[in-house]
Amino acid sequence: MVQRIEFENTLTFARRLDSGDPLRKFRNRFYIPVVEGREAIYLCGNSLGLQPKSAREAVEREMLHWETLAVEGHFVGRQPWLTYHKQFKEPIGQLIGALPHETVVMNNLTANLHLLMASFYQPTPQRYKILMEAGAFPSDQYAVESQVKFHGFDPAEAILEVLPRTGECTLRTEAIIQVIEAHKDSLALVLFGGINYYTGQVFDMKAITEAGRKVGTYVGFDLAHAIGNVPMHLHDWGADFAVWCSYKYLNSGPGSVAGAFVHERHADNASLLRLAGWWGYDEGARFGMQKGFKPMYGADGWQLSNGPILLMATHKAALEIFEEAGINNLRDKSIKLTGYLEFILRTHPLLASHIRIIIRI
Ligand SMILES: Cc1ncc(COP(=O)(O)O)c(C=O)c1O
Repeated sequence: MVQRIEFENTLTFARRLDSGDPLRKFRNRFYIPVVEGREAIYLCGNSLGLQPKSAREAVEREMLHWETLAVEGHFVGRQPWLTYHKQFKEPIGQLIGALPHETVVMNNLTANLHLLMASFYQPTPQRYKILMEAGAFPSDQYAVESQVKFHGFDPAEAILEVLPRTGECTLRTEAIIQVIEAHKDSLALVLFGGINYYTGQVFDMKAITEAGRKVGTYVGFDLAHAIGNVPMHLHDWGADFAVWCSYKYLNSGPGSVAGAFVHERHADNASLLRLAGWWGYDEGARFGMQKGFKPMYGADGWQLSNGPILLMATHKAALEIFEEAGINNLRDKSIKLTGYLEFILRTHPLLASHIRIIIRI
C-alpha cells in the first residue's frame, strides 16, 4: 500500500521527495541524452527506454567471446550461448509473476504474438471470435486480422472490440466481462493489452482472465506497456499466454529481443498445435537431428531459432538493474510521481481548466 503524501507544488518539496527516494541512485545507471547543454527530461520510455551504462560492456563481452572462442562460445565462457536464454527466467518471472518454465525470451513481439496465436487461436465454426480492446496497438490489430483471415473467417464478424462508454476514454472491467459472457459460445480467444498503449489504462488482467476461462476460451495479453512498469501475477491469474517487447520499459535497446509466457498447464501438452523450429525441440536430443518434432517442456517449446546473443546481452544488462531495483519499488515510485504530476495539473491556476485527467491513480 503506497503511503498518501500531502503534495506541494514547490521546488523545495520536489527536491525533498527526491532526496528521500530509495531508487534515486539508479538514475546514474543510465545514459540521459543532453539537449542544448542540459540533460533531457525523458518522457519517452514508453517508446524506447534509456540505455543502461552497463549495456556496452555486456555486448563487448560477447563480441570478445565471438572473437576468441568462435563456435566454442556456444559451450564455454561465463555464460555459454547454448543456454544463454535461461538466465532470463528468474528476472522475467519476477516481473510478470511466472514460473521459470513458463517464460522464454525470443524473437520480437509481433512474431511471438503470431506464434502464440497459432497455438491458442484454433477457431471452429462455432467458436471463432476474438475479443480485443478497441484501439489496441495497430500491430496487434493487423496480427489478429491476418490470423482470422488465415483461418478463413471474416474479420468484420470474427473480431469483437470493447469500446468505452460515450464520453469516457477508458474501459470498464464490467463492460469487458459482459461482452465475454454475451459471446460465451462463440469466443475462441480474448486478447487484451496489459496496459493500453494510448490511454495508459491498466486492465484488470485477473478479472479478464477469470471471465474468459469461465466461458472456456483462451486468454492472452500483450504486455508491451506493462512489463517493467506494473507488477503482475500471470501464473496465479491463470492467463494462457502473454507476449512482450523489451525496448520500452525494459531498457534493452532498439528492436531488442522479446518474450513469451505460456501457462504451466500447457507445458507438456505436445498435442497443442504450434509452428515449430529446431530450438524448441527437446534439448537433450536436439542435436540428434531426427525427424518428428518433440517440443521442450514449457514455454521453451515455442522457440524457433537460436537466440540473438548480442541483443540478449543488452537485455541481460538491463534486467540486472530491474532485479536490483525491484518491480514493487518501481511501481511505488511511479504511483508517487504520477500522483504528484496529477496534483500539479489539477491545482495549477492556468493549466487546470485545460486538462482532463482520464485515469486516476
Ligand atoms: C502494445 C504494442 N504491441 C505491439 C507492438 C509492436 O511491437 P514490435 O514492433 O516489437 O513487434 C508495440 C510497439 O510499440 C506495442 O506498443
